Amino acid sequence: MPDTFEPHNIIVTGGCGFIGSNFVRWVAREHPGVHVTVLDKLTYAGNPANIAGLPESQVELVVGDICDADLLDRLVPGHDAIVHYAAESHNDNSIANPEPFVQTNVVGTYRLLEACRKYNVRYHHVSTDEVYGDLALDEPRRFRPDDPYKPSSPYSSSKASSDLLVCAWHRTYGIRATISNCSNNYGPYQHVEKFIPRQVTNILCGIRPKLYGTGENVRDWIHTEDHSRAVWDILTKGRIGETYLIGADGERSNIEVLRQILSIMGQPEDAFDWVRDRPGHDRRYAIDPTKLREELGWRPIHTDFSEGLAQTIEWYRSHEDWWRPAKEATEVKYAAQGQ
Ligand code: NAD
Ligand code: DAU
Repeated sequence: MPDTFEPHNIIVTGGCGFIGSNFVRWVAREHPGVHVTVLDKLTYAGNPANIAGLPESQVELVVGDICDADLLDRLVPGHDAIVHYAAESHNDNSIANPEPFVQTNVVGTYRLLEACRKYNVRYHHVSTDEVYGDLALDEPRRFRPDDPYKPSSPYSSSKASSDLLVCAWHRTYGIRATISNCSNNYGPYQHVEKFIPRQVTNILCGIRPKLYGTGENVRDWIHTEDHSRAVWDILTKGRIGETYLIGADGERSNIEVLRQILSIMGQPEDAFDWVRDRPGHDRRYAIDPTKLREELGWRPIHTDFSEGLAQTIEWYRSHEDWWRPAKEATEVKYAAQGQ
């Protein structure tokens, strides 16, 4: 039987980033009785505008670093759960400069676990399917919770390290923890460095989209709102000490997704550039979400990828003020890497 837990006053780390802010807005809408303290350092990827307009009585922003133990000592007491999204999240950045990934993703998780231990707080750890490495393009197998960890990049190895810390803190100190490993998210408020927003905003700026390598690499797309609901289900009904994989049967090759974007945006299907491949580029991710579906009854709502993609494109079209300030610097960085 799953454990049940009724949160009243939660900390969401990284709540000004892409997935964290979508979770905060989802909780504010679906669970108006729950108070949310967002703890976010506001790195290049964090933007307070992502949670603007939510009721002040329900959502509070604390600007700070998850690695700051003194801040955690002041903030954590009185909260009943931490949902940990904060991370350095971009593979390409981790290849160019791994250090912030070790600091935030590994040391930051350690500090949060220590705070949970000290103040007896429930902990949910948001992680990635990339900890399992990659699959061959043609094998029928998908990732399952008990698969061995085999991360490829500095980013995914830092996330894998943080997952292992959570397992140890649960087993050794009895921390009430769960872990979720999710596949690639799409939806509003995703930084323009990531694949879908980069291509969409390139087209909106008159720049040709950029495809790495052969374009055959496969990602398993899930709408960020379906991810939010899954995290809530695990937080409130998941078994303590367990890992749940989150995925929505959304496998598609990069070239297929790019052609869909080009088609929706009225561009010829070959109106893109092939660019240098990512070193160590994972070939394919695919999630078997059976455990989440059977134990917790979770189902994705956004099952029509074309419709979700069209809505996401429309969001970027109508929110140029949101993405424009980050666009130029992002493209300058990519150009320097030959991408
Ligand atoms: P993001 O880069 O958009 O946002 C990260 C947020 O964390 C930002 O608001 C940033 O300011 C904040 N942050 C960074 N370092 C911090 C620190 N030291 N202290 C406090 N705040 C800090 O990331 P995202 O894509 O929304 O990913 C969120 C989480 O979900 C990450 O843990 C990531 O590993 C995981 N995840 C992402 C995906 C995906 O498709 N994007 C899929 C599965 C799992
Ligand atoms: O699987 C979950 C992971 O998904 C998360 O843990 C990461 O935080 C998140 O960033 C994402 O990682 P990816 O590396 O898969 O996402 P990204 O958007 O960087 O790239 C998706 C695919 O598209 C990947 O195969 C690389 C390719 N790509 C990316 C960019 C930015 C391109 O072909 N061209 C591009 O311009």
